This record gives sequence, structure tokens and C-alpha cells, in this order.
Amino acid sequence: MRAGYLQFSPARSDVPSNLRFIEAGLAKAGADLVVLPELALTGYLFASREALENVAEPVPGPSTERLAGLCRREGLSIVCGMAERSRGKVYNAAVVVGPDGVVGTYRKSHLFSSEKALFDPGDSGFLVFDVAGARVGVLVCFDWIFPEASRTLALAGADVIAHPANLVLPFAQSAV
Ligand code: ACM
Repeated sequence: MRAGYLQFSPARSDVPSNLRFIEAGLAKAGADLVVLPELALTGYLFASREALENVAEPVPGPSTERLAGLCRREGLSIVCGMAERSRGKVYNAAVVVGPDGVVGTYRKSHLFSSEKALFDPGDSGFLVFDVAGARVGVLVCFDWIFPEASRTLALAGADVIAHPANLVLPFAQSAV
């Protein structure tokens, strides 16, 4: 498997613009699996829960449909951070999407700092997905600081961990 990433600064609350950027980036990716940032569709910073709810989407939903179409066109799979709305809750999620649609959704377990006032804690547990012949575990940003998260994915058979992030920690930025 050839894995890559598309790193960019998602525009806040502007899903159409972020999808356009992702479309252009995937067209040049040349990879089997592309990892996008945490909250790639909406941006990371929200003034209120209400502002977040206005742009959160169900999975599957309009954006994952669009992403699946892009995956079909480019012949690849992605792991994409997004705000997922489900039964009155909003999760900081990462969706795995391939040419046939949504493969699965991981909901961030370890919410960071002010995220706790906006998002509901993830309830998916740590998940490993079959993507392009590999077992892909998924974490979102702050999850990475807890070794048990990666260990759980390794014990569940992950060959690789896809890790959408929006690193606001100074020591983490300098380590990238
Ligand atoms: C983070 O979890 N975005 C630091």
C-alpha cells in the first residue's frame, strides 16, 4: 500500500470550499490511502456548540457521498476528519471512505481542552478497518498521547495507524 497525506488549513465552517480543496488534492495524490486533517470539512475552531451543530453532518451524508465519488474517480481510499451529527450528539470523528462508500467511522475518544465543551465523547471504541489490502487503525489527534490507544489498535491487528490531527500543542508541532 502506498499511503500519503493531504495537509492543509481547513476553512472554518466552509464545507464546500474545503471539499473543493480536497478534490484538487486527491487528483494529485498518487496513493492508495490518503489521510486528511482532523475536522477537515469544517475547520477546527468553533465559537459555540450551535455553530458546530450547523455544519456537522450525518454519516453517511452529503459530504461522505461526495468523498466517495472522489475516491471512485481517483481509485483510492481516505481517512477524513469531520464533525459527525448523530441522534442529537456531535462527534469529532474520522470517516474511512473508499470507492464503494463509507467503510467505517471512528469517534475521537480523548477530547482535547475546549473540545469537551463542544463535542460529545466518542463511543466507537478503537477500530481497525480493511483498506486496500491493509488493516488500518484510526486515531484522532490527542488520542495519540495515550499509549493504550495505539496498543489497542496493534493488538486488534493494525498494520498502520491513520491519524488525522490538528496539532495545537507547541511541543507536538515542533516534533512534526
Ligand atoms: C487536538 O486533539 N486537536 C490537540
